[in-house]
Amino acid sequence: MSDIFKLELNRRPRRTRRTSSLRALVRETEISPRHLIQPLFVVDGESSPEAIDSMPGIFRLSITDLIKECRELVDLGISAVALFPKIEDNLKSDDAREALKPDTLVLRAIRAIKTEVPEISVVADLALDPYTLNGHDGLWDSGAQDLANDATVEVLTDMAVLAAEAGVDLVAPSDMMDGRVGAIRSALDGNGFERTAIMAYSAKFASAYYGPFRDAVGSSGAACTHDLDKRTYQLDPANRREALMEIALDEEEGADILMVKPAGSYLDIIREVREETELPLAAYQVSGEYAQIHAAAQRGWLDLERCRDESLLAIRRAGADIILTYFAKEYAKAYAKV
Ligand code: PBG
Repeated sequence: MSDIFKLELNRRPRRTRRTSSLRALVRETEISPRHLIQPLFVVDGESSPEAIDSMPGIFRLSITDLIKECRELVDLGISAVALFPKIEDNLKSDDAREALKPDTLVLRAIRAIKTEVPEISVVADLALDPYTLNGHDGLWDSGAQDLANDATVEVLTDMAVLAAEAGVDLVAPSDMMDGRVGAIRSALDGNGFERTAIMAYSAKFASAYYGPFRDAVGSSGAACTHDLDKRTYQLDPANRREALMEIALDEEEGADILMVKPAGSYLDIIREVREETELPLAAYQVSGEYAQIHAAAQRGWLDLERCRDESLLAIRRAGADIILTYFAKEYAKAYAKV
């Protein structure tokens, strides 16, 4: 070591990185389990948890196991769960009529959770993909060869009212039809559910990262393809301004919480939305983001826990208040240990 060479510096940023307690003192971003929403897949019957190949550690749960899971999540400090039903193929139809049955799986799941574990908030996703034969989020208009916007919105408003009746805390339209947030708000208010909140999937991109989710709910199976094309309704990944316009519309139409989805490849959008709105902002770290970290970790190429934590930190640092993530429970367990 040379004792001759000495920089004359009045700023040495490394000083506050020297020890773990100094680093803790200056750390700018933190994630507590209360910021996280755990997405959960639910199936009918009393089967034991079904593993999902492309999502290690995630299972489709019967309602009985769903209740147990929610109890554990509450005890770990998680605030909310988002429910995704996987229904039998024989209940799927072109008109998605199963979605409006008062006793459909997801409504039974909501009622069970709100009775047994009322402390946890429940999010009901509103879209038709679990119920349609082709796996699309809305009703297919064969003449137009595209989804029928307004007819789909009508079904979504009925789904919202049913979910509210079942006791859901938040409805989350994930379909990207035009005008659905306003229509859902008036349907809820018109039926006496002015206290049910809307978390809008406002900037939802047509992403390849949804692949594993489509295995989990069986919507890829129905369409027989992973690359179900949703580009006539979900956003073009190339478009920043259009995402901001969607955000502004959902805010005007009365959304309570806005969402950007996926998260990891859209951190710039999260940051911009954070700067444009005062509403709470959620970001969805989707199935493919989860799967890629697991896949690399299985090969020994990445450290699972460190990449998990870094990926979540990045999303929160970009400006998300709330993160929907399949890592929620594991993160909360690790958080409880330190
Ligand atoms: C569908 C829906 C999707 C996800 C949540 N709701 C998939 C899609 O739009 O095809 C994706 C979630 C994930 O990948 O984790 N309404």
